Amino acid sequence: MNLKKKIFSFLNNLRNRSETLPESAIINDSGSLIRNRNPEPLFVMDNKLLSGKSALITGAGRNIGRSIALEMGRQGADIFFTDIDRDSCVKLEQELKEFQVRSKGFLSDISKTEDIDALHNFLVREKIVIDILVNNVGVRLDHDDYNDIRDIDPAIWQKTFAANVFGPMYLTKLISQLMVSNEIHGSILFITSIHESVPAGWTCYSSSKAALAMIVKELSLDVAPHRIRVNGIAPGYVSENEHGIPFDFKYAPLHKTSINPCYIGRAAVYLASDYFSRFTTGTVIRVDAGLSLYNFRIADNRSHNGI
Ligand SMILES: NC(=O)c1ccc[n+]([C@@H]2O[C@H](COP(=O)([O-])OP(=O)(O)OC[C@H]3O[C@@H](n4cnc5c(N)ncnc54)[C@H](O)[C@@H]3O)[C@@H](O)[C@H]2O)c1
Repeated sequence: MNLKKKIFSFLNNLRNRSETLPESAIINDSGSLIRNRNPEPLFVMDNKLLSGKSALITGAGRNIGRSIALEMGRQGADIFFTDIDRDSCVKLEQELKEFQVRSKGFLSDISKTEDIDALHNFLVREKIVIDILVNNVGVRLDHDDYNDIRDIDPAIWQKTFAANVFGPMYLTKLISQLMVSNEIHGSILFITSIHESVPAGWTCYSSSKAALAMIVKELSLDVAPHRIRVNGIAPGYVSENEHGIPFDFKYAPLHKTSINPCYIGRAAVYLASDYFSRFTTGTVIRVDAGLSLYNFRIADNRSHNGI
């Protein structure tokens, strides 16, 4: 067989195989066909859902923020991001090169008004128009030995609300003004937590997240006339090891593990994309593997029934 025929037959084989194999079929090491009952969801869309858009993500140096940056970059968005850790900024800029999008990290503290002003000035000076704002930074500073109201520390409340609520609100004000003046029908996201509504013994953190949940609703009405959408994501326990494996977590009814950060990133892509969510505003999506539904009664009943 000459080379041309060989290539033709190879391609034909490939095509036939992909047409005949069921979606969930895989071939094991010894070459036989087995069925994978729980295949990883495959990304099948060819379109770049966010191409032509620019996203600004706060605290993207690691974990959830980083995943949001990577998932949005994968979908063709230019990525501008902040963090207070210089090395993480450099590393993420490097990682984003894979997607051939423009990217730039800013050393910027969301709890400092002067840092937010400097970021805003840079965007204006460089004529960078933000279509997607992700308020991701969130700190939990509650003392682990907090028992009750007697342990309340006003300084912790100030710091938590500065990073989780006041700073994000000021940034959102500035960016939404830019969206309006540039006639951008943008998307604004807040990363809240299931503890916006489920108590955790972290009074300060939880109440800052509850504030965000309400801000999502109020702001969505403020900016709806400008066709800007405001939504949130309330994650459960999000973490993975250095190999991308989630940790065992018996309280998560679904999968019984922590959640890989990429699933928060993909929810953010969903909410940022007009294709999926042009009519979605003022809502918070829970991505928590059912954790917020967990309660002692169901847990007890299930264990008695041996499930
Ligand atoms: N990880 C979880 O299980 C979980 C669960 C629910 C909600 N959340 C929320 O998701 C968001 C991200 O959480 P995470 O677990 O990825 O956080 P993380 O602590 O792992 O990472 C936060 C990033 O933000 C940066 N950062 C911290 N303070 C900053 C500041 N003042 N200004 C700018 N950058 C700052 C850090 O350097 C870090 O890179 C937070 O709002 C958090 O409350 C996380």
